[in-house]
Amino acid sequence: LFSAVEMAPRDPILGLTEAFNADTRPTKVNLGVGVYYNEEGRIPLLRAVEEAEKARIAAHAPRGYLPIEGIGAYDQAVQKLLFGNDSALLADGRVVTAQALGGTGALKVGADFLKRLLPDAVVAISDPSWENHRALFESAGFRVQSYRYYDAASHGLNRAGMLEDIKALPARSIVLLHACCHNPTGVDLSADDWKRVLEAVREGGHVPFLDIAYQGFGDGIEEDAEAVRLFAESGLPFFVSSSFSKSFSLYGERVGALSIVTASKDEAARVLSQVKRVIRTNYSNPPTHGASVVASVLNSPELRALWEAELAGMRGRIRSMRQALVEQLAAQGAKRDFAFVAQQRGMFSYSGLSAEQVERLRSEFGIYAVATGRICVAALNSRNLASVTQAIAQVL
Ligand code: LMR
Repeated sequence: LFSAVEMAPRDPILGLTEAFNADTRPTKVNLGVGVYYNEEGRIPLLRAVEEAEKARIAAHAPRGYLPIEGIGAYDQAVQKLLFGNDSALLADGRVVTAQALGGTGALKVGADFLKRLLPDAVVAISDPSWENHRALFESAGFRVQSYRYYDAASHGLNRAGMLEDIKALPARSIVLLHACCHNPTGVDLSADDWKRVLEAVREGGHVPFLDIAYQGFGDGIEEDAEAVRLFAESGLPFFVSSSFSKSFSLYGERVGALSIVTASKDEAARVLSQVKRVIRTNYSNPPTHGASVVASVLNSPELRALWEAELAGMRGRIRSMRQALVEQLAAQGAKRDFAFVAQQRGMFSYSGLSAEQVERLRSEFGIYAVATGRICVAALNSRNLASVTQAIAQVL
């Protein structure tokens, strides 16, 4: 049965963590995977999470099956975070939300549902995009192509190229958009860019799919939801995949959600019934722990305030690391201006390092980055900054 099975390549991101874990050098640094590490180099357990967990354990909560679409209080809290407390869409009952296994799980449930609605549609992703976007939509049976996005010369957005490519897509394509903190580049759209993208999407009759995995890591919780709010006002149907992996530091708990904006309450009920079928035939129903913790935090004024402060702390630390990276690279005599790193948003920076330079960082210095040159700025701290910048200056 398995004699002809070929060895699959390592995953471009999680495979790096496998290699990193196997590396015995004490000075190794993992700038590969998108994980926030604190100043001590550890994945933080947020205090808001710890408090909610204590209460949950004390309550001896039973672990029965959840509804297929997850915890109701969680789904509603997700909706408010994405669409705003005063959202007319929510008041009208037009949004369907289902708890999902992280942002990836939300993307996959959304992709499988879309495959039933638009089996021949093209899925368009940014060039570049998160490595798993293409693989995930291809595995759902779609043809995936890319639209221009990153301009290497300016380290910014290829605005004209992006709009041109979206306009050139076949009618009724699925357009995947990073709502904030673009992964991998850290280059986001301005409010004006979003309006133009929305118009291009509307003209083509396309289906927008907004992926928001880093809400709160850019400019703030509300600010980072600007694109979602803009699409919410447009009257278009659209999909949103969201995640609490990063913003709650709950990576391994797989806490995410798929939200779908429909035209009416009646449509929402029918869409939810179909999404439930996708979930039921996939993993039946979601796990309890992470989502119940997130729901407790978001629905308690005290814990929510604590979480917001902790999230602001993570956001601020990443910003200061961006600045420090730029300064240290200049101080180490790096033969390139890295000022653009301070302008980027979220966890990542598209550093401009080549695959060869990334390979040298790994083999000679035990510093892991994605082959495309993406580095996770959120893994830097004042202890590893000097060794990382020295190594980068050397490989340049
Ligand atoms: C990343 O891009 O590194 C994260 O989103 C983790 C992942 O699942 O790839």
